[in-house]
Amino acid sequence: MRGRDVLELGCGGAQWSVALAACGARPVGLDLSSGQLAHARRHADAARVAVPLVQASGEAVPLRDAGFDVVFADHGAPSFCEPGRLVAEAARVLRPGGRFAFCATTPLVYLTWDQRRERQSRKLRRGAFGRRRFAFGEGTVDFVPSTGEWIRLFRRHGLTVEDVVELRPSEGATTTYVDFVPYRWARRWPAEQVWVTSRQR
Ligand SMILES: C[S@@+](CC[C@H](N)C(=O)[O-])C[C@H]1O[C@@H](n2cnc3c(N)ncnc32)[C@H](O)[C@@H]1O
Repeated sequence: MRGRDVLELGCGGAQWSVALAACGARPVGLDLSSGQLAHARRHADAARVAVPLVQASGEAVPLRDAGFDVVFADHGAPSFCEPGRLVAEAARVLRPGGRFAFCATTPLVYLTWDQRRERQSRKLRRGAFGRRRFAFGEGTVDFVPSTGEWIRLFRRHGLTVEDVVELRPSEGATTTYVDFVPYRWARRWPAEQVWVTSRQR
């Protein structure tokens, strides 16, 4: 990552951008929330690294065209933005040959969520077709496009899919992120996926 211009979409406390700056990258952290950006500023200052921060939505990125080698997110803006606008903006700010990669929760997690008991279940509880937007009462709206919709959006905006990695926790893994899918569930079905795309040259 040394010397690369990197944009993190939905950086939160910018732990990733801070780590990348320490590796010699030139990251910019973008987030909609001023509260999150205050945490990000504190983290960057404590690590003594330069991470410019931008308060904006991933749907309207106030940065110039083709300014980044890498655009990425870790459960960030791609989960909360209208997917068509988000992909258009990510592609626009990428240099030709640059990479757009992000992780997100899989549709299966939303389809099996037991809202009454507020836990993950092993049953399909709702249909998949026609659903790409979920609001389970936490005050957030999550966008969960199907695999086909993601691929069509990437193609429309000149991005090539390099990989889709379905994450599986290693045997005996533990988590501090207890509100997410339980270990046993995630050992059997993919709960998170990483999309890796690149902008055509
Ligand atoms: C689950 S947190 C993840 C934060 C960070 N990526 C991490 O790994 O800790 C999601 C972040 O996305 C931000 N976010 C939500 N909607 C957004 C939007 N439309 N544009 C940019 N950021 C957004 C939230 O403010 C929050 O910081």
